[in-house]
Amino acid sequence: MTQQAPTQTQRDSRDHSGAGPSLQATQEQRSHIAKVESTDPGTITIENLEAYYGNFRAVAPVTFTIPGRKVTAVIGPSGCGKSTFIRCLNRMHETVRGASSRGHVLLDGEDINGPKVDPVLIRRKIGMVFQKPNPFPTMSIYDNVASGLKLNGIKSGRPMNEIVEQALRQAALWDEVKDKLKQAGTALSGGQQQRLCIARALAVEPEVLLMDEPCSALDPIATLAIEDLIRQLAPDVTIVIVTHNMQQASRVSDMTAFFMMNEQRSGELVEYATTETIFTNPADKRTEDYVTGRFG
Ligand SMILES: Nc1ncnc2c1ncn2[C@@H]1O[C@H](COP(=O)(O)OP(=O)(O)OP(=O)(O)O)[C@@H](O)[C@H]1O
Ligand SMILES: [Mg+2]
Repeated sequence: MTQQAPTQTQRDSRDHSGAGPSLQATQEQRSHIAKVESTDPGTITIENLEAYYGNFRAVAPVTFTIPGRKVTAVIGPSGCGKSTFIRCLNRMHETVRGASSRGHVLLDGEDINGPKVDPVLIRRKIGMVFQKPNPFPTMSIYDNVASGLKLNGIKSGRPMNEIVEQALRQAALWDEVKDKLKQAGTALSGGQQQRLCIARALAVEPEVLLMDEPCSALDPIATLAIEDLIRQLAPDVTIVIVTHNMQQASRVSDMTAFFMMNEQRSGELVEYATTETIFTNPADKRTEDYVTGRFG
């Protein structure tokens, strides 16, 4: 996790708008990346983050700030590095064999990759919901939701039953499972399993929730319930959601980050702005083409 020489140059180009002409190109590029000032808890500052699989660079250096307690959508064509990028935000990327990253990810100013930082603790603070639901196969519905609490202890000191019920209600699943909490989590439908995984992630009261296409296995009603949930959570939790659904991005998010592959097939952050700007008045032609469905 070392910063390198070009890194400093890029930092300067962001921080000092009066930089010399040699930095013009960088500035031009960077001008499509909104500068966010956020001191709200759960703010994520990303500095020159790059992600690799072996020698292949899946994500080219990205620098931007995700505001705390807001919803940020990550959009872009298939293969442009969205999943890889968000997996770097809670150190899941490093669990892939041969994978590595460079640069910095700060949660509330603290480097999540710092030498004394426990990745397990980071993943509790920065929870994740995957595209494919992955309930613990040997556990009941109740135990799936309670699993993180048993592992980490209950933060708020409230009774376990109450927290499990609240998490299941938040995930819009309670009514469907309240009479069969002892049954296996895997006995639920795909959409129910996804909501179970959302409940499991919420039970530990994370500061940040990363969601990688969380609705791709859900029907329209469950999808809307999850979108409602995302809006309800946003005042308390930072949410970063990867989605291929443009309507969903515009409905749920405050900020949107648009990624695209460059000639080396590395994902690049093309534009980052308020969701309204991205969908109504994007600065980059490529963003406009993508959000209006002209490619991708
Ligand atoms: N485990 C892996 N090993 C090697 N390469 C990988 C691995 N996972 C992803 N990649 C490569 O990294 C690049 C980015 O993949 P990623 O899954 O992050 O894209 P994505 O934007 O999430 O795509 P999608 O929208 O299809 O989910 C792709 O070129 C992909 O082939
Ligand atoms: Mg993906």
